[in-house]
Formats: sequence, structure tokens, C-alpha cells
Amino acid sequence: MRVLILGGTREVSQLAVKAGAIPGIEIIVSLAGRTCQPIKTNLQTRIGGFGGREGLVNYLQTNAIALIIDATHPFAAQISFNAFTAAQRCNIPYLMLVRPQWQPVKGDRWIEVEDFKTAADLLPSLAKRVFLSIGKQELSNFIDLKNIWFLMRAIEPPAANKLVPQGHLLLQKGPFSLIDELQLLKEYQIEAIVSKNSGGKATYAKIIAARELSLPVVMVKRPKIPECDRVFDIETALNWIDSKVRSHKRK
Ligand SMILES: NC(=O)c1ccc[n+]([C@@H]2O[C@H](COP(=O)([O-])OP(=O)(O)OC[C@H]3O[C@@H](n4cnc5c(N)ncnc54)[C@H](OP(=O)(O)O)[C@@H]3O)[C@@H](O)[C@H]2O)c1
Repeated sequence: MRVLILGGTREVSQLAVKAGAIPGIEIIVSLAGRTCQPIKTNLQTRIGGFGGREGLVNYLQTNAIALIIDATHPFAAQISFNAFTAAQRCNIPYLMLVRPQWQPVKGDRWIEVEDFKTAADLLPSLAKRVFLSIGKQELSNFIDLKNIWFLMRAIEPPAANKLVPQGHLLLQKGPFSLIDELQLLKEYQIEAIVSKNSGGKATYAKIIAARELSLPVVMVKRPKIPECDRVFDIETALNWIDSKVRSHKRK
């Protein structure tokens, strides 16, 4: 059975390597190609878009994909909707591995917003020095805020033709420690943070640091994802794959 794992998160390499050890299956990992140096595995990996929903349907059929695990980033909703629809069209079992969201706890000063545009509209009333901890793809939403200085952090710089808000771009890859995040916020005299509700441990320290410094966090909510079978940890996803392989063998 050939299994397509749609990647884009740290969990993917772990899931793919473990799934690859299940007898009787072949794994293909698919990445969008958003970073030049994705985590390496020995598994077969393809990089780049499929060419929309139709392209994906064509790929699934041509490559005789039998199962799809969608382990994409929680904000990568387009590929999830494409994959869910394509899987239905091709009658392929589809499972989403969803990273649990962060939840506010006592001491957090979150302002939850629907999208990046709303976050940008809110900032002038909130702060003059803002940490945009949202990666490179959404920076352009903040370009018109000329009275705010931004500290921006991304793994890689945005494309040369993309405009970047005024401030300083830090190129860093997590995980980040609490000590370093506290130091960063103090050094740059940050007054507010904009974050995606990405979940996971690797980038959570900034949320704790904001709590300790009593800074507001404009938390962008996750986009809608397909109403589909979902699991929240790697082991349950592996069990799902295993059960599908067993029932396939029995047929
Ligand atoms: N994609 C990631 O790996 C990733 C990682 C971290 C954060 N994010 C965040 O998610 C948000 C949206 O990002 P996005 O534009 O990458 O996602 P998206 O809006 O869901 O996808 C846009 C297009 O990228 C291609 N694509 C995405 N994931 C793919 C995969 N695993 N394999 C093959 N093609 C894939 C597809 O192109 P076709 O239509 O041509 O098939 C898809 O339609 C941003 O805020 C970004 O920072 C994404």
C-alpha cells in the first residue's frame, strides 16, 4: 500500500519514519517547499504543489495512492481542503493529524482574532514595538503600519519581491527556550506579540515569556479545516495506518 503523507510540521518526519517501518507499506512524503532545508529522512519525498485539486486527483490516481495522512501545518488550510476533496473523489481513506491548539491560562493577556488583517487593524491601539512571530508568508499584512516598529522572526527571508514591514528581521529556527525568549523581548523592548495559534512545544516559550512580562499577545485563530477524521498524536495516526493495512491484507 502506498501512503501519501502531506507534511509541513516537525511531527511529520517522526510519523513518516515510524509509518515506514510498518510492513507492507511504502511512504511518500509531500512538502510544499516553503523552506530550503526541510528535515531529512531516508523516505521518498516530493516537493512542490500538485497543481490544485485536479492536479492532486491526477497525482493520487497516477501513483496508486491507497491512504492519505494530512499532517500539514494548522494554518495550511488550502492543501487540506484540496486533499480532503481529492481523497473523497478517489475514494481514498484520509486522516488528519492535528496538532492541539494552545489554550490561554491564568496570566495570559491574549486578544484572539480571526485573521492577520484583523491583527494588523488592532495593533496601532496596542503598541509601538511589536514582535511578529508569524513566519515569512504573512508579513505583508502589516506593511501599512508606518508608526510601528516590528521585530520579525522567520526561518528564511521572504522572497526578494515581497515587501517587509519596517523593523528588524531575525532568521532563526526553533525550538526556542524561555530564557532566550525573555531576553529577546526585553532587548528589543517589545510591547506586544502577534502569533499564530500553531500549537506545539517548539515555539511556546514566547507565550510563557509574554505571560511573565505581562505583554499582550494578539493570537491569530486557526483557519477552518475539513470536517474529517482527526487524531491528535502520532501513535493514534500509526494505529490508524496499521488498521487500514490489516484490513487491506484481509481483502
Ligand atoms: N505549507 C507548509 O509547509 C507550512 C509550514 C509552516 C507554516 N505554514 C503556514 O501555513 C499558512 C499557509 O501556507 P501555505 O501557502 O504553505 O499552505 P496552503 O495555503 O495550505 O497551500 C497553498 C498551496 O501550497 C501547496 N502545498 C501546501 N502544502 C503542500 C504539501 N504538503 N505538499 C504539496 N503541496 C503543498 C499546494 O499547492 P497546489 O495547489 O499547487 O497543490 C497548496 O494549494 C502560512 O501562514 C504558513 O506560514 C505552512
